[in-house]
Formats: sequence, structure tokens, C-alpha cells
Amino acid sequence: MSTKTMVLEILEKNRQTDISGEHLANALKVTRAAIHKAIKELRQEGYEINAVTNKGYRLSEHSDILSAEGIKALLSEKIPLPDLFVYDTLPSTNQTAKQLALEGAKEGSVVLANTQTAGRGRMGKSFYSPPDSGIYMSIILRPNISAQMGGLITSFAAVAVCRTIEKAFGLFPKIKWVNDIFLNGKKVCGILTEAVTDFESGNVESVILGIGINLSTSEFPSELEEIACSLQNGKQSGVIRNQVIAELLQELSGYKGTIQKGDFLSHYKNRSAVIGKQVQFTQQNKTFLATAVNIDNTGGLVVRFGDGTEQTLTSGEISIKGDFSQ
Ligand code: BTN
Repeated sequence: MSTKTMVLEILEKNRQTDISGEHLANALKVTRAAIHKAIKELRQEGYEINAVTNKGYRLSEHSDILSAEGIKALLSEKIPLPDLFVYDTLPSTNQTAKQLALEGAKEGSVVLANTQTAGRGRMGKSFYSPPDSGIYMSIILRPNISAQMGGLITSFAAVAVCRTIEKAFGLFPKIKWVNDIFLNGKKVCGILTEAVTDFESGNVESVILGIGINLSTSEFPSELEEIACSLQNGKQSGVIRNQVIAELLQELSGYKGTIQKGDFLSHYKNRSAVIGKQVQFTQQNKTFLATAVNIDNTGGLVVRFGDGTEQTLTSGEISIKGDFSQ
């Protein structure tokens, strides 16, 4: 590991404390000049490092650069340390994660990018991924559970995202079936789960869980202005991306056991933005209007038509009629 990376690791672990150059040099068994050089390089990469005479160095609380060191420093020791692949720019973290999964990346490996040039959404849509202001992450899962259980990964992830947002920002977002996270009626996060299939055997090799969160984006393209929002809306809350990522990885850890028990579905229902609402959906070119009444054990949406009959939707998209900001 380079001196620069080791210095960063120490600064990230001690965000609240000044660390003297002498302490860093002794801890890393290098010269003071080597520490000075490492600090200079980190500053050139954009890290805001404050230096106070006779006290030492400290990462500014606002320094919000994605890094494996920063995430690891904030992860609880109770969960296994994941392999973290952090990039500045990628076309899509899901695409890179798929490639890494095929090359044998470990269960729980995480791919992150500061920005995506071709971020993907569901149903062939794109996901707006500007730099420095969002979380674009994909996790490689090798769930080894039934296909039906596998379908619940997305619902579980939606609950994990809501809990993370609640803990970090004190906000209470809602889930629009099947996997969009909404705040005050606008989308703040999208989830795209994709299966990687072995070409020869046809078996599902792994699942890529892609999560995109608008954290501090202040301006959206005109077509998204009315329907998307961010958690901070351009304001600084002091919450940095590495912190939200570490919190989310903690929420997602142990997902197999939790999904098999199924009890997270009660949290999913509590956070549903659709139950009790009139919803519209299209099937075989016909548009239907019904009331959403429940989420079943497989994560399906149970809807009731005007004549009292019910149907369970297992995939696709719904739109909610009327105001659903509450
Ligand atoms: C949706 O809203 O339809 C799903 C959006 C999923 C976006 C995330 S961002 C990280 C990962 N990489 C992608 O290309 N897409 C997902």
C-alpha cells in the first residue's frame, strides 16, 4: 500500500482529531518529507486537508470524496469487509459489476463511481448520474437461494435504503412499488437488479444489485425536474457519501437470512407509498385502474378492481393517481 493511501486511511479513521506529521511518520515508519509529499498529493486529488501549526493534519468534515479507505473506516467491524472497487467515471457500475462477477469477484464486492456516463434504469430507461453529488453503487451477490426468494432482494434493498436515509438524514422516505424510493412525492433513489447467467449452464451465477441515490444534486435536466429530487437539495448537511455507503452496506449485510425469514416485508408495507391508493397499469396494451391493497409474501402488489376481484402484479410499472406525497 502506498504512503498516500496509508495516510488517507489514518486521516479517514480520525476525522475528528488533528494528527501530527510526526505521529504519521512514526506510525507508517517513513520520513516527515514522505508524509508531506503524501498530503500534497491527496490535496491535489481534491481532499480538503486542514493543517494547524503545532497540532497536525485533519480531513475537513465536508471533504466528500469517494474512497475505499473512507468507507472502510466507517464500516462496523461486525460485518465482513467487502472488496471495494472505486472509480471516478464509469459508463455504468452495474455493467462493470457484471464483468467483475464473471471474472470471479467475491460475494458482497461493491463497485462505486463518482459519476456514470450511461447509468441504467429499469425498462430501458437511463439514470441521471452527475459527478460529486450522488451514490452510484452495484453490489455483487451470490445468493444461492430460490429464484422466488431472489426476487425479494430488490424489495429488501428498498427497505435498507429507506432505513439508511432515515438514520443519516432523519427523513422518512416511501417506497413506490416495486423499487423506487420517494420523498415528498418525488423520486430520490432507483434500484436495478440484474441477473448474471452462466452462458453454458444457464444457471444464475450472481445477482447485481444496483442502487442510485440523489444525494445533493441541485439541478436536474428539465424532463426530471418535476419528478426527481435529492436528499439535501443542494444544501450541505454534513453527511458525506462514504458515510451513507457504509451505513447502507451495514443494512444490507446478512440479507440472505433476513430474506428467508421474510419479516422485512412488514417494514416494506409500512413504507409503501401505494397501498390504499388508486393505481394505473398497462397489460397487453390495455390500461387498468385499481386500488393497491397489499404486498404479498413474494413482494407482488395485490390490487383490487371496482368489481371486488383481485390480481397480484409481479412485475412492470404502475402509476399512482392523485397526490402521493403523504
Ligand atoms: C431505476 O430508477 O429505474 C433504477 C435506477 C438504478 C440506478 C443505479 S445507479 C448504480 C447502478 N448502475 C446503473 O447503471 N444503474 C444502477
